[in-house]
Amino acid sequence: MSNANEKRQAGEAAIRYVEDGAIVGVGTGSTVAFFIEALADLRDRIQGAVSSSEQSTAHLKKLGIPVLDLNAAGPLSLYVDGADECDPHKRLIKGGGAALTREKIVAAAAQKFVCIIDSSKQVDLLGRFPLPIEVIPMARSLVGREIVKLDGQPVWRDGVVTDNGNWIIDVHGWRITDPVELEGKLNQLAGVVTVGLFARRPADVVLVGDREI
Ligand code: 5RP
Repeated sequence: MSNANEKRQAGEAAIRYVEDGAIVGVGTGSTVAFFIEALADLRDRIQGAVSSSEQSTAHLKKLGIPVLDLNAAGPLSLYVDGADECDPHKRLIKGGGAALTREKIVAAAAQKFVCIIDSSKQVDLLGRFPLPIEVIPMARSLVGREIVKLDGQPVWRDGVVTDNGNWIIDVHGWRITDPVELEGKLNQLAGVVTVGLFARRPADVVLVGDREI
């Protein structure tokens, strides 16, 4: 089965976690786009969505799904999002679409994080996909030098500005044996806004196509 078909299956399968009356946290990306399409069929049964990006907000609104502010919504029962890599412990690399900061915020606000992926995203060890890090623009070189000290190869995602007005560094060359420790270490660097490792708050459920693992 193609990756696109598996993405569609995963997006549609995640609908079974949506409860009547819920405010649903919605991630970003091509897999989530299938979830949003399926969620539109339930729009009269939910209060609305909290979105993780301008891209998803536009898609949700286009399909008539109300988009609510997280500050007004309070704790969420469910967050559905894709990932760039997923290890056997449901720890993730995210941020390929540069939406990692709002994704991490909405994931943190949710009781259950359902991650929807195709099988190409499954790995034994995180790091083959370059790790995205959102940085304050003036700290780009500073953070880059710190990453080199940690044996990573930082590459500035030139031309990309996040929804928060920041920049992205993609770190190549890391085989991430302890993602929880690395996430904590990188979070401490001055100028780092968000690290694309979702290890301290991993997914609760992973759907690979329509199969829950
Ligand atoms: C965006 C993300 C996406 O979830 C991730 O890049 C996966 O995208 P796709 O579903 O298009 O493969 O983290 O910042």
